[in-house]
Amino acid sequence: MNKIAVAVIYGGRSVEHEVSIISALQAINALDKEKYQAIPLYISKKGAFYTGDALLNLNNYRDMNKLLAAAQPVYLSPNYGENKIFSAEKSGMFKKPFEQKIDVVLPVIHGTHGEDGCLQGLLELAGLPYAGPGVLGSACGMDKIMMKAILKEAGIKVADYQWFCFWQWQDSQEQIIAKIEAALLYPLVIKPANLGSSIGISKAANQEELIAAIELASSFSERIIVEEMIKPLREINCAVLGSDRQMEFSLCEEPLTAADILSFGDKYLANSNTKGMSGAKRRIPADISEQMAADIQDTAGRAFVAMDCSGVCRVDFLINSESGQIYVNELNTIPGSLSFYLFEPTGKKFGKLLDDLIYTALQRYRVKEKKVYGFTSNILSQGGFKGKK
Ligand SMILES: Nc1ncnc2c1ncn2[C@@H]1O[C@H](COP(=O)(O)OP(=O)(O)O)[C@@H](O)[C@H]1O
Ligand SMILES: [Mg+2]
Repeated sequence: MNKIAVAVIYGGRSVEHEVSIISALQAINALDKEKYQAIPLYISKKGAFYTGDALLNLNNYRDMNKLLAAAQPVYLSPNYGENKIFSAEKSGMFKKPFEQKIDVVLPVIHGTHGEDGCLQGLLELAGLPYAGPGVLGSACGMDKIMMKAILKEAGIKVADYQWFCFWQWQDSQEQIIAKIEAALLYPLVIKPANLGSSIGISKAANQEELIAAIELASSFSERIIVEEMIKPLREINCAVLGSDRQMEFSLCEEPLTAADILSFGDKYLANSNTKGMSGAKRRIPADISEQMAADIQDTAGRAFVAMDCSGVCRVDFLINSESGQIYVNELNTIPGSLSFYLFEPTGKKFGKLLDDLIYTALQRYRVKEKKVYGFTSNILSQGGFKGKK
């Protein structure tokens, strides 16, 4: 039996580059070697693609120059149906050109260019099946403004918010402050709309802090969102696996942290720097009532569908621990460690989760390929274009 060639794409020009390396190598190790040929496809911080066995060892990433010299620079062809990576170096007289076919792609890049629809756009052009949401769900999932608008429209509760662009802030700061203060109550949380890992996020208890927080957020993004702070706060996350037709839910987790805004350090550096999201401090299952766990799973499922998700998606909730009101905070369409640690206690091993991801990707591809994208007739062959430009 031919093995299915699974290209795991990771790294990339994203602030979550290192975390992505950890998540990807965890996934490659967990892939069933009998069924799959795992092909690491690493995108460097500069944005160049590489493959090769040297990329499979986490220790090798300590010396990047040495690692990249040992790896094979490649291109992923955007030509529809070619389904290959090629050597990026010119092949000499004695050097055979490198080629590797790909059957399915597992994107494991968190954040910019990987989780936001850019990579998904390339894979759509290439006609490659891939895990996770398509361009639409990925792009909306990376933008906290679009995401909240979609969730709200779907009747899912989110923290009250206002948003604006930095140029509007520069033009009319006073009006924007007035609009925020008329709609929301302090304390507020100010975020760049399209980053992750808490970068550029801060809170404000008054107008002075609000201005400073907006200036900080604007150094990371043109689009800024200001939310009412949920307090007293508990955070609960729940992952959803599958497609809108068939969903499976993970256990709920409660991330544990000392600070009141989970920082990059809390998430990734606290316990261990080689375990990524699976090494962060948390309580699984979260200590919540059965009713609340059921509400969270139901809401996570509705959010998954509203956002056109597929694959594995971690839905993060904010809970007012006094009133019990739950709010969706965000969806992570390529969650750290692919949330395997949330499914393992349900009896689903990481390898099985990857099986499901690959199956869903191939299934979605087949359904999509059956849709009609255009007519085969060529109107240009009909002639008679008089007066048309
Ligand atoms: N509206 C809010 N009220 C209270 N805390 C919040 C709110 N929004 C975010 N936080 C805190 O900030 C953290 C990071 O915000 P989040 O929106 O999840 O950004 P990121 O995409 O960087 O993870 C959350 O995990 C939570 O601790
Ligand atoms: Mg978050």
